[in-house]
Amino acid sequence: MESRAFFVAGRPVHGESESTVHHPYDGRMIGRTSQATPEQVEVAVAAAAEVAAEAAALPAHVRAAALDHVSRRLAERAEETAQLITAENGKPIKWARVEVDRAVSTFRWAAEEARRFTGQLQRLDTDPTATGRIALVRRVPRGPVLGITPFNFPLNLVAHKVAPALAVGTPIIVKPAPATPLTALLLGEILAETALPDGMFSVLPLPNERAAALVADPRLPVVSFTGSGPVGAAIRRAVPDKHVTLELGGNAAAIICEDWNTDEDLTYAAHRIATFANYQAGQSCIAVQRVYVHEWTYDAFLPRLVAAVQELRTGDPTDDHTDVGPLISEEAATRVEAWVDEAVTAGATIDVGGRRDGANYPPTVLTGVRADARVSADEVFGPVLVVARVEHDQAAFAAVNHSAYGLQAGVFTHRVDVAFAAHRTLEVGGVIVGDVPAYRADQMPYGGVKGSGVGREGVRSAMDDYTEPRVLVLTGVQL
Ligand code: SIN
Repeated sequence: MESRAFFVAGRPVHGESESTVHHPYDGRMIGRTSQATPEQVEVAVAAAAEVAAEAAALPAHVRAAALDHVSRRLAERAEETAQLITAENGKPIKWARVEVDRAVSTFRWAAEEARRFTGQLQRLDTDPTATGRIALVRRVPRGPVLGITPFNFPLNLVAHKVAPALAVGTPIIVKPAPATPLTALLLGEILAETALPDGMFSVLPLPNERAAALVADPRLPVVSFTGSGPVGAAIRRAVPDKHVTLELGGNAAAIICEDWNTDEDLTYAAHRIATFANYQAGQSCIAVQRVYVHEWTYDAFLPRLVAAVQELRTGDPTDDHTDVGPLISEEAATRVEAWVDEAVTAGATIDVGGRRDGANYPPTVLTGVRADARVSADEVFGPVLVVARVEHDQAAFAAVNHSAYGLQAGVFTHRVDVAFAAHRTLEVGGVIVGDVPAYRADQMPYGGVKGSGVGREGVRSAMDDYTEPRVLVLTGVQL
């Protein structure tokens, strides 16, 4: 099997320490690559710093054309890309296809935003002393970006760092997750087909221990990290003077409100929750983990949820019909198993699931879980749902907020006043009404509060994040 090249300042190269990538489902080798040498890392960083001014001055049509090209080529190579995602990440092929479609749209949105990204005209003549003055407020890149990406969306979470960087004209260096570097390298191949200047992008497979040097490098003033809370916190502590964006974890909750109570309502919510607690084996920061159900409907809802979970087809992720595949590794599944066992020892009941097989952990529903159990209070990042009864909607809001995290919440209600109350009250980055928290449109602001991170992604939000306002005041101008 040929070793995939990685990209240093836009050029394909090979490095040191050949590494192999394995399919999480059956452990077979599915690809190879190598790690960037320290010299190659230096070339990538120096090139990013050197090209930054040229990149910022690139006309919008050049940036937009590159982004459109990536979108188009990803669409053309969609099935190959989806197969590669499934091979290295283990997510079911149907979800890998969705991920590719989303990345196609993320790059297309970025091309559109690049064409629109103009700035603002602000009148200053609101004060007599400023008659004849106006301000132009433009956003200029803060400087080259270091993007550190996780294994759970090997393409689209890379896209969410690369596309906004190219849209604003700033170079980016991507360090993909060690478990899933190959899809980022495929994206690198497509980026290398564009007319972007050398140095505009690099994709460097590196072990996590070598990321610290890149984080500390002053030539990369922006760090955009998606991954675990402890690593995010360490990055913030290490570089307090840098602009750091952190997309961290969550223990996303769904609420079944008092008014969401017909047979149809409950069946719908049960299916949505079953699906989006377990898609990608729960390895999404917004996968449903906690469910709070109004006490009037709890007894009708729980069996529907358990039945919907039982209907999910587990197994080989390359099969079109598989709903739930393996976790990223046996180690990850073992941790999930340990957390569930711990909750059971503390009094929880397993309503369905709960028996690990290698890297596979079955979709699992737990009830009677203590609020401080790790399966409830921490990010489980596995196919485990914790369901609890609440006396009223306000109690559900309080339970959602009783968390170290705050990424997204789903609120099943038909009532506009309840929707607004949820939006007012819930300490999260986004509230989804009538659906699960696992909803993400790639153009909308996405990110969390509390332990879920700082800053927002979503194409336009990340463009704002990678840039800062610069004001131009003109005098002697009549509006
Ligand atoms: C994440 O896991 O944070 C990303 C979720 C998504 O993009 O759907």
